[in-house]
Amino acid sequence: MRCQVAIIGAGPAGMFLAHLLARAGIDAVVLERRTRDYVEGRVRAGVLEQGTVAVLEALGLDGRLKAEGLVHTGTNLAYDGEIFRIDMAALTGGGAVTVYGQQEVMRDLFDAAEARGLRIVFEAEDVALRDVAGERPCVEYRCGGAAHSLSCDFIAGCDGFHGVGRAAIPPDVLRVFERVYPFGWLGILAELPPVNHELIYANHRNGFALASMRSPTRSRYYVQVGLDERIEDWPDARFWDELALRLGPEAASGLVRGPSFEKSIAPLRSVVAEPMRHGRLFLAGDAAHIVPPTGAKGMNLAVSDVAMLGEALVAHYREGDASGLDGYSARALARVWKAERFSWWFTGLTHRFPDMDPFARRMQVAELAYIRGSVAAQTVLAENYVGLPMG
Ligand code: APR
Ligand code: PHB
Repeated sequence: MRCQVAIIGAGPAGMFLAHLLARAGIDAVVLERRTRDYVEGRVRAGVLEQGTVAVLEALGLDGRLKAEGLVHTGTNLAYDGEIFRIDMAALTGGGAVTVYGQQEVMRDLFDAAEARGLRIVFEAEDVALRDVAGERPCVEYRCGGAAHSLSCDFIAGCDGFHGVGRAAIPPDVLRVFERVYPFGWLGILAELPPVNHELIYANHRNGFALASMRSPTRSRYYVQVGLDERIEDWPDARFWDELALRLGPEAASGLVRGPSFEKSIAPLRSVVAEPMRHGRLFLAGDAAHIVPPTGAKGMNLAVSDVAMLGEALVAHYREGDASGLDGYSARALARVWKAERFSWWFTGLTHRFPDMDPFARRMQVAELAYIRGSVAAQTVLAENYVGLPMG
């Protein structure tokens, strides 16, 4: 089999890229190790930057998003029982985010892929990249017990952090930068109305908490936990008590408790791999970088990567212009590092660190109080939160 671009991974990065290329008439094949149900079922964040919404609009995939997505023009910070709102629209000249779960985005991408005849191979096993630095790269894989070989012009490594894409870059070329945080997030989903119509990020001396949502009837909540804690240690009653405490009395006053139907613990880390290109292999999304979830940048970064990569591939095929491909890694990394900085900063502002002494805690509270009283500081937060320009 042959195609122009072989895309490894059908997560947000791979599927957005597949649609961007299909729209330009570029022939791509997506190879995904799992089933559609598995990929679509993964519970992830659900806050779309305006740039992500714009890509969905441009692809004609915004029907359900426009009907069901919740536009948030502000977000809220709580600390020491106080709560204040950041008016993102006022501070950024009309900016906003849209709350729409990654699971919904994936469903829309897959439904449209079927309708538009995109080529996706699910349950592709033993995917191996060959000759990525040469002129004729190729992807070998197994499917339904048979061995296949897919020759292509380019490979897009959209296969997440544990994929084969990044591993195909020689160790003497690849540099990996990393911060591992000494805590995780315990998240629940519950079929209950959210405590507030907008998100609340809370810094409490016990640790971070976040009140989010998927819809007006479905809540998504998180509390920071130690890495040694287990889900069994957190029955619903304990979760609700701790969440209410951390949100503070004012923010928690409307909290509706009930059974949760999903509960999981995720570790937090910041990782960037450079470069994002090696020969004819291009990395995008989690294959090249991870952000902690504070600020919900993960999927948005995957989308901005592939928007840049898609643009570069279209310029190559339409105009024979290689400058976009040559500049892809530097252009993508410039935006990635800014989003990494924001996610790292927002994590540091809102979490309890095990080695934190009373001075460090006072510094956090002073910074939150400063943000509360400063339009300049709120503007910095707001412009990062709604999403920095593509650059
Ligand atoms: N062969 C084929 N597919 C693979 C392989 C492989 N060897 N390894 C991984 N994959 C698939 C995974 O099964 C997954 O569906 O690649 C996909 C990668 O998807 P994500 O991990 O979601 O990464 P990405 O598309 O970059 O999206 C990043 O979405 O899932 C969130 O937390 C993530 O917010 C981040 C964003
Ligand atoms: C979520 O709704 O899952 C969510 C929202 C905001 C974040 C992280 C996760 O910063």
